Amino acid sequence: MTTTIMVLNGPNLNLLGKRQPEIYGHVTLADVEAMCAERAARHGMAVRFHQSNAEYQIIDWIHEAREIAAGIIINPAAFTHTSVAVLDALNAFDGPVIEVHISNVHKRESFRHFSYVSLRADGVIAGFGTEGYDLALQKMVSLVGPKG
Ligand code: DQA
Repeated sequence: MTTTIMVLNGPNLNLLGKRQPEIYGHVTLADVEAMCAERAARHGMAVRFHQSNAEYQIIDWIHEAREIAAGIIINPAAFTHTSVAVLDALNAFDGPVIEVHISNVHKRESFRHFSYVSLRADGVIAGFGTEGYDLALQKMVSLVGPKG
């Protein structure tokens, strides 16, 4: 059975490439999805890639990951800093969780310095632009992919 990684994206990330490009760059979310799919395929793995502006939808996908995914890569966007519900859902998932931020949240406003999701994440990648997703996938492959 193919190992599946779930990649989840929170609110406003559908506007990636158009939204504040000086912070988030010009790459679109469709480009990120293609990059993730390619990286996973190179290792014989599959990616389920989703974005939603609705908190309940992110939670429902985390619940689905319990059944179908070996690991979760999540950019919770603004829910990072607000959502106990997303944290609780991640706490109900047994596999590795990697948190990704395109920008370096620690260089920005103080309200972005705290992350509920970091209380659960096994690792955090921030500040390397959309390349952070690829870095997260590489690490995820080493955590859940075929050994040796
Ligand atoms: C973000 C950082 C968050 O603070 C912000 O709310 C986002 C995107 C990032 O990828 O840098 O929407 O998660």
